[in-house]
This record gives sequence, structure tokens and C-alpha cells, in this order.
Amino acid sequence: MPAVSRLLVADDDPDILEALRLLLVGAGYQVETAASPGGILAAVQARDFDAVLMDMNYTMDTTGGVEGLDMLSRLQRLDATLPVVVMTAWGSIEGAVEAMRRGARDYIEKPWDNTRLRHLMRTQIALGQAIRTSQRLESENITLRRDGAPELIAAAPAMQPVLRLMERVGPSDANALITGEHGTGKEVVARWLHAASPRAPRPMVTVNLGGLADGVFESELFGHTKGAFTDAKTDRVGRFELADGGTLFLDEIANLSLGQQTKLLRVLQTGELERVGSSKTRRVDVRVLCATNADPHAEVAAGRFREDLLFRINTIEIQLPPLRERREDIPVLAAHFLREHATRYRKPVTRFHPDAMRALLAYAWPGNVRELSHAIERAALLSEGDTVRVADLNLRPPGEGGGRLEDLSLEEVERVLIQKALARFDGNVSAAAKALGLSRSALYRRLSRHSL
Ligand SMILES: Nc1ncnc2c1ncn2[C@@H]1O[C@H](COP(=O)(O)OP(=O)(O)OP(=O)(O)O)[C@@H](O)[C@H]1O
Ligand SMILES: [Mg+2]
Repeated sequence: MPAVSRLLVADDDPDILEALRLLLVGAGYQVETAASPGGILAAVQARDFDAVLMDMNYTMDTTGGVEGLDMLSRLQRLDATLPVVVMTAWGSIEGAVEAMRRGARDYIEKPWDNTRLRHLMRTQIALGQAIRTSQRLESENITLRRDGAPELIAAAPAMQPVLRLMERVGPSDANALITGEHGTGKEVVARWLHAASPRAPRPMVTVNLGGLADGVFESELFGHTKGAFTDAKTDRVGRFELADGGTLFLDEIANLSLGQQTKLLRVLQTGELERVGSSKTRRVDVRVLCATNADPHAEVAAGRFREDLLFRINTIEIQLPPLRERREDIPVLAAHFLREHATRYRKPVTRFHPDAMRALLAYAWPGNVRELSHAIERAALLSEGDTVRVADLNLRPPGEGGGRLEDLSLEEVERVLIQKALARFDGNVSAAAKALGLSRSALYRRLSRHSL
């Protein structure tokens, strides 16, 4: 965790400035103040801040906030990653919209609500830090590269233990089980492990075990001899034999029936198999990598997965966190996919509008990296000019409009309900807690767990 976050607060009314300073110091921040646009500029040039909260109107020009707007553009040029939140006094939305267009990340109207202001600052500081971390990591070449290995981007702190584990087990012959939600990159990890192993010159053979009927399963994996069953017109070599000397990637392993699990276990225990319809025993030398989006231990507990088979395949267990738990990866992955798709579609688009990046960072990504890749592909196609805009992304916030509750995890549903309750009661935690049937402290715990 970084040290105490440092904020710059600017307003030309000394009373307001003091009130804001006390509020934010009370929220645990280190606070500096400035009374004029010149003071803002001097402070930002002298020191690093985690966020700026600035009024839009200064006495020299009390009517239109022109100086404030001018200051926004200058701050943006100085440091585009610095989150700036503006305070608007005139109660019209236009000033706020114009400020956001000039690079402000959010706005709050005066008189402000203390809870909402604290919440808003906390969110902006966290987003700003995520963007800065990912930019730094991008320049430090965080991509795990090996010759012939797929590109695997992992800038987030939550991914670092995963990378370390992969670097250690990649070159070994150990079987590995890769778990994670849909689209988290399980196949990318499997390809990387294969490419990092001494088996890399030999093939990696993939079998998707999702819903194979028993007969198909056996002949697919172990092969069959001509005439073994009605459709067996010729001899067929199974995937195990094809992968001999290399790697066999068994995808969707939790979908195997118990009978199929028994047959697979036998091969893994003995390294021997027979083609269907043949009594000749053949030896195979394969490294087995498995993947599933189920929780294999829960499957064992529920009696749907053989524990002895799990122990055979999970010598190493690699758990890929969902994208929403490694948001620092979002800007890096987004930039990577934008380069890729812009090249493919010959579009001149090279960057994200700050609002678009903010939307990417805030979205829940139930479909994880695959969904992000698709969203960026669509945006690259729709974009005009060199910048992806929010509208090009077409993201629907979960729980609103088209977001379907049943597509969300329990955690996400909880987050959505809390957000809605807070919005309904204007950020009043006591009222929101009451409506949700929680104590205040229970709601606070959940707020911090969801980083709200
Ligand atoms: N860390 C990453 N760096 C770059 N690309 C990634 C990364 N993770 C995933 N991708 C890309 O996202 C897409 C989905 O990844 P992958 O197919 O490996 O997911 P999966 O976990 O196997 O999903 P499923 O459970 O649906 O099979 C692929 O196009 C892949 O190249
Ligand atoms: Mg997959």
C-alpha cells in the first residue's frame, strides 16, 4: 500500500478551503491548499499529488469559470494521469460537462455532501494510482516473453504470484491444473507453460472435454482400430498418442463423467493405454495440463469429481484471478488489444479518451479478458480519428438497463445493490444500511471490500 495519499485542494474562499481541508484530513489524507489558479500550478509543478480537488470559479472572473477551465487544460498537459475533480457552484450541468471534456475526471456541486465527496475522492485516487502503476509497468516490460510463447500481459499485483509460479513450473514436467472464470486466459497460460518447457519443440495437443459422449471420449483420447465400432472405418490415433513427447491440454476437465474420469486416471497412473478395439498396450510420454472454470475442490466435495484424479492433475495449481480483481491490467491489455485490432482493421486509432479509459476501469468485465478484447475490437471498428470514445465502447453498467442480474456473481450483485442504495439515499450510509438491512459497520466493511 502506498503511503498516505496527498491531495491538493483549491478554492479562493478561505472558509470553504478550511472546511474541505478539515474534511479530507479527517478522511486520512495529507492535504495542501491553494487559493488561486497560480497557486495550483506552482504546487503541481513542485510536488506529486494523488488528486486535485479544485473550484471552477475564481474572483478575477466570477462569471464563467474560464480560469478554472484554462487551468484544467494546463494540468492535463502537465500530467495526464493526475485525477482532477472540479467543484461547480452554479448548479447547471453544462459547466461540469465542459470541465469533464477538458480532462476533469469527476465533479461535485456546491454545497457538497461530505460522504459523497469522500467517496468520490477515494475512487479517483484509486483509479489514478491504477493508471500510473500500469503505465510504469508497461514501460518496464512486464510481459512475460519466451520464444514461441503467446503474449501474456500481467501488470497487476494480483498477477505477480501467478507469474512467479509459472516461471518456476514452466520448465518442469509437472502436471498443472489451471483454474479461473471464463476468458481469464487459461489457454494462454497453458500455451505459455508448454513453450517454456523442454517439450516446446514437440506439439501441444488440445482436447475440449466439454460434453463428449462416452464412445467419442474414448476414441478421441485413446484412438480406435478399424472395425472397433460401426463408424470406425479406419484406424485412428488418439490425442494421447498424438501428444507423445509433448503436452496434452485437457480443457473443461470438470465436465468429465465419473466413468470417463476413471478411464483417464488409469492412463495418468500407468502411462499406458489401449486403442478402442485393440488389446495392444501402448506407452505414452505426455505432460498433462488441465483447465476448468469450476472449483475442482468443490466438485470433489460434491462427489462429482474423483479426488484421486484431482491429485494426479493438480501437482501445480494455477489460479487466474478474474479481471475485476486485477484492474491494473485493464489499461495495459486495452492498449495491447487496440494496437492489435487497429493494425488488423487498418484504423488510425491509437489512444483512449480519458472518459473511455475511466469507463473501462469501472466496468465489471463478467467475460474477463475475452470480453475486453471483443469490446476493444468493436471500438476500434467504430472509432473515428485517433481516439476511442466512451460511446465507441458501448459498455452497459451491470444492474442498469441491459445488465442481467443472472449474469453476475453474488459478489457483483452485492456491489450493485450497495451502489444503488447509496445513490438512492444520496450517499447517506446510515440510511443505505437501514434499507439494506445491515448495521452501519457491516455496510462500511462491505464498502471497503468492494472499494466503494
Ligand atoms: N494475460 C493476457 N495477455 C494477453 N491476452 C490475453 C491474456 N489473457 C487472456 N488473453 C486473451 O483473451 C482471450 C481469452 O483467453 P483464453 O482463451 O486463454 O481464456 P480461457 O480462460 O481459456 O477462457 P474459457 O474458459 O472461456 O475457455 C484470448 O484471446 C487470449 O489471447
Ligand atoms: Mg479456454
